[in-house]
Amino acid sequence: MAKLDAYLTQHADRFEEELCELLRIASISADSRHRPDVVAAADWVAGQFRRLGFATDVVPTAGHPIVVASSPPQPGKPTVMVYGHYDVQPVDPLDQWISPPFEPTRRNGNLYARGATDDKGQMFTHIKSAEAVLACDGQLPLNLKFLIEGEEEVGSLNLEKFVAEHSDRLACDLIVISDTSQLGPGQPAITYGLRGIACYELRLRGPRQDLHSGTFGGAITNPARALAILLASLVDDQGRVTLPGFYDEVVPLSDAERQQMAALPLSEAAFYASVGVGAGWGEAGFSALERRTARPTFDVNGIWGGYQGEGFKTVLPAVAGAKFSFRLVPDQDPVKISAALRSWIEQRCPPGIDYELIDAHGAKAVVVPLDSPAMAAASRAIERGFGSRPFAIREGGSIPVISTFRQRLGVDTLLLGWGLNDDNTHSPNEKFCLADFHRGIKASACLWHELAALPSLR
Ligand code: BES
Ligand code: ZN
Repeated sequence: MAKLDAYLTQHADRFEEELCELLRIASISADSRHRPDVVAAADWVAGQFRRLGFATDVVPTAGHPIVVASSPPQPGKPTVMVYGHYDVQPVDPLDQWISPPFEPTRRNGNLYARGATDDKGQMFTHIKSAEAVLACDGQLPLNLKFLIEGEEEVGSLNLEKFVAEHSDRLACDLIVISDTSQLGPGQPAITYGLRGIACYELRLRGPRQDLHSGTFGGAITNPARALAILLASLVDDQGRVTLPGFYDEVVPLSDAERQQMAALPLSEAAFYASVGVGAGWGEAGFSALERRTARPTFDVNGIWGGYQGEGFKTVLPAVAGAKFSFRLVPDQDPVKISAALRSWIEQRCPPGIDYELIDAHGAKAVVVPLDSPAMAAASRAIERGFGSRPFAIREGGSIPVISTFRQRLGVDTLLLGWGLNDDNTHSPNEKFCLADFHRGIKASACLWHELAALPSLR
């Protein structure tokens, strides 16, 4: 332990510098112009594993490459697979960044850059913990595999195929992911549930081309108005999604779980204030925490149509569109949601409008058992790394491949998040608290020892 602490202290600055190298690579998976950066990030990550002496592959896919690495095999020891992603979200609106997104900058104990917490910084803690344990002990106490992909932020479609086709190569006893958040500063957490997702784009087309709204307005359907009506009627005035059958498979929250959530030291007022709103919104009968982590939702992610330039242009647009998504909870099935949505739109799309519904991607929600020996081991490791025992929380984001791991590899996932809710993920000025980066490395190093000491990981 003293040896580990000394190593982590001695190499702390270099760990930060290496993370900055990765953060300088603009690996935006959604934007095809950044394809070379995505490939460079994969190669950079692979270089880290090669330096550790891990068998390392950069596997090409129909999309972005997957990095697969394994420590030198130690037969008889359990195998843990770390999953993470080296891709990041787009950076717009660029003018709201205090320092440029791909020039990592330290301010107030934080490192600011796109991907700092989601997920380059968090993922990197596990690479550095492996380095530290190898340097201190000469070997790892268990077998480690790493699966680091470049398409998490666009739905992990190629990874899901890869996992299905290479379940032998990815065989393991447990998966560990750090791509979630703590309850708050100084309040580490283990996340036992994430929501699923179903993402769509809807395009509505009316007249052949844009028209003068004075000459034509009032006589034909305006696609932007038709879109607004369709989107608005997907949720009722109680905040419930109106798609028929949407709630049929929703597993209700138990009283015990609701009590446990209510007992977490969180204030709704402080939560609303933290994002700059005076009041909240959502499904009637549920707390804000329940609504944003454990209940299904509908959100418009982007919407367009008509004139957006300077001044006014009185136009009746020919097209309007939106990107939107549902967050799902156990046991909702994105395939069923897609079918229900398609027939709902088919029935409601008004005369004079043609629609196109693009089904982008979907994933099921996950909830993992809290009473496993691996969970207890993770709790002890976090206590050693962060100095206090973790809370057990559910979060509202999605990591699509987790349900595939369960289905194809038959293993559960430990979600050990080092982030914070105010890290500005997917938005301007993303950051990662540097102290949490180093605590995460230590917790991860302790985790390998705690897990190796268990009689069995399954
Ligand atoms: N790190 C997030 C997942 C997350 C977000 C966990 C918030 C806990 C709280 C992950 O990188 C992410 O953003 N996933 C996307 C997946 C989607 C694009 C399919 C998400 O949740 O929007
Ligand atoms: Zn993300």
